[in-house]
Amino acid sequence: MAEGNLAAKPVSASQVTLVQLMEITDANIAGIVHGGTIMKLVDTAAGLAAMKHCGGPAVTVSMDSMSFLAPVRIGDTVTVRASVNDVGRTSLEVGVRVESETVLSGERTHTGSAYLVFVALDEKGKPRPVPSVDAQTQNQRRRQKEAKIRRETRLAHKQAIQEHRDQVQREQVVAPPDEDEPQDDEGFPRRRHLRM
Ligand SMILES: CC(C)(COP(=O)(O)OP(=O)(O)OC[C@H]1O[C@@H](n2cnc3c(N)ncnc32)[C@H](O)[C@@H]1OP(=O)(O)O)[C@@H](O)C(=O)NCCC(=O)NCCS
Repeated sequence: MAEGNLAAKPVSASQVTLVQLMEITDANIAGIVHGGTIMKLVDTAAGLAAMKHCGGPAVTVSMDSMSFLAPVRIGDTVTVRASVNDVGRTSLEVGVRVESETVLSGERTHTGSAYLVFVALDEKGKPRPVPSVDAQTQNQRRRQKEAKIRRETRLAHKQAIQEHRDQVQREQVVAPPDEDEPQDDEGFPRRRHLRM
């Protein structure tokens, strides 16, 4: 996609559905489907939706609110639906719903959900602007609003962690760690107050 082509795209243009039969190799030691198998399908479906929306490569930058609501059994199919919820400047949030189906009875269960953030990359591997998204239905507009709330929370969380790390670093510059000072599991001095 040309970098300048940022015309809004409808959510429906990039929606993805993946269906996969769960086999013995997908089992964990409890005999049900391994959470990691589901997470890989979620990342794959969401990544496809992100790339379709961006019209080029996009990488996963975060996955949050991954919930496992019910176990998935071997022999069931898993259906993963991914849909772009909202975009930032170079990033976009994709929402994913996971359902299992007992093949013979057709009984379907909502087994999980997740929200993932992808960043579109240019040919040099640098973040590039993404097209805006046109939320047309009431549900799409609700998801877009909720995605904006999650984006604010993520950015605030990232900033708070960064500020804390900067603060710790400043304290260490003022008070370099004693050779004999006891350290915690992370290698930080147990005593964290500034020495005057
Ligand atoms: C994705 C990557 C290129 C972003 O680099 P970066 O230096 O953080 O880029 P920026 O700070 O310019 O942020 C780019 C966008 O990502 C968003 N972002 C960065 N870190 C984020 C995080 N932890 N959670 C959510 N969004 C995040 C920023 O808000 C920004 O979005 P916006 O332009 O819509 O506001 C870099 O983090 C990377 O290469 N990560 C590894 C990706 C990967 O290997 N994934 C697994 C395989 S697909």
